[in-house]
Amino acid sequence: MIKKVKKAKTRRQNPLLAKEQCEQAHMDFCFAKTRRIGMAVWKISEDVFYVGVNDTTLDLFESQYRIPDGVTYNSYVIKDSKIAVMDTVDNRATDAWFDNLEEALGGKAPDYLVVSHLEPDHAGNIRKFLVKYPETVVVANAKTVAMLPQFFELDTEELSILEVKEGDTLKLGRHTLHFVMAPMVHWPEVMVEYDEADKILFSADGFGRFGALSQGCTYDAAGKAQDVLEQEWTGEARRYFINIVGKYGANVQGLLKKAAVLDIEKIAPLHGPVLTGGLEYFLDKYAKWSSYQPEEKGVVVAYSSIHGNTKHAAEHFASILKEQGEENVAVFDLARADMAQAVADSFRYDALVLAGITYDGGLMPCMEDFLYHLKMKNFQNRYAAVIENGSWGPVSGRLMKSYLENMKNITICEDMVTIRSVMKKADGQALEKLAEKVIKRS
Ligand SMILES: Cc1cc2nc3c(=O)[nH]c(=O)nc-3n(C[C@H](O)[C@H](O)[C@H](O)COP(=O)(O)O)c2cc1C
Ligand SMILES: [Fe+2]
Ligand SMILES: [Fe+2]
Repeated sequence: MIKKVKKAKTRRQNPLLAKEQCEQAHMDFCFAKTRRIGMAVWKISEDVFYVGVNDTTLDLFESQYRIPDGVTYNSYVIKDSKIAVMDTVDNRATDAWFDNLEEALGGKAPDYLVVSHLEPDHAGNIRKFLVKYPETVVVANAKTVAMLPQFFELDTEELSILEVKEGDTLKLGRHTLHFVMAPMVHWPEVMVEYDEADKILFSADGFGRFGALSQGCTYDAAGKAQDVLEQEWTGEARRYFINIVGKYGANVQGLLKKAAVLDIEKIAPLHGPVLTGGLEYFLDKYAKWSSYQPEEKGVVVAYSSIHGNTKHAAEHFASILKEQGEENVAVFDLARADMAQAVADSFRYDALVLAGITYDGGLMPCMEDFLYHLKMKNFQNRYAAVIENGSWGPVSGRLMKSYLENMKNITICEDMVTIRSVMKKADGQALEKLAEKVIKRS
């Protein structure tokens, strides 16, 4: 059901556009290197096309996450009796995206622009798109319509807007889009769309993955070994999900519940590959991540150390764990490691060991930062143990414990090892004892 269709008035050229065009010329220059050289538009079904773009020059995604393999901003075109464009891309990729779009459109003008998410990595080109294709109707929900003027100097009264709500449908011809609201599956205005004809779920940021695409835009999990899946999809999808959407597990659960009644064959996210097979694998990962359940047995040992003694103790402790049969042990130097990776692995495994020095009567900032991140992402339902170091008045153990106590359902090992400056024989024995407890999660 369509709630409201506003008819377009003649659109005025926005005065800000000229300035934007200059900035764009610069961005295009920067971005030229990242265009998908020799790659055209990818088909994901008979008449649905991937027109997304790789970005391998961005230093940090969301100004905080390392992306050694780049990232994609995805966009799709459904070519039916009516043509729908599904989201735009980041401003960093305007020209590359328009190239793809034009190729997919083949000279036709789009009828609809569906806006799933207003964050600039997807909505950055809405205005430029509407200047280029002024007859397009913007399909968005009420929250998106309300927020649009915050991002663009445009008069929503001058736009053709088709406002949709939960359960609304839009017939394009063979394809019918169903609109499903997904509030806080990153931002409050997020919605996803389900295409009944080709059974595609356009999942917004959900099911995204860091990493550019090279061999094609699809990924099939069926028949693949765990380590291959981990390397090809899960590692970077987990780091993406836990850090970006992790806080909103309950909302993701809500979306998964709605998705469970749909017959889905493909999941088309706004980052990373389109998921085309073995969907239960991806859904199972999302079920675990969003309910804050560990994926597998394993221990993260995360340490902070200035002069290397706590580092030595933490590494020694990790080797005892391995000797005693713990298969998955991941050690992080919190001052140097990728914080997002340390956080993601803490969610992957069921146990966390913190080894931290006392620093100026408190915690070393990297440890404080790590614990802050875990709390922010709703870290819970885990086993934890603590190793502290201090040279004249150790307090780091108590402080780390108090952080853990403020998280939900963390079982903290009663034994805590206190090292005074340098690990000595007695400390080694205490660590052996602690390792036994950690192995048993007791
Ligand atoms: C800059 C700095 C500040 C420290 N502040 C304290 C402190 O306030 N209280 C304390 O008991 N130890 C403090 N220490 C000692 C450390 O907690 C730790 O015992 C020592 O650095 C050895 O561990 P490491 O080699 O892993 O850094 C400090 C050490 C440094 C280098
Ligand atoms: Fe987002
Ligand atoms: Fe995004």
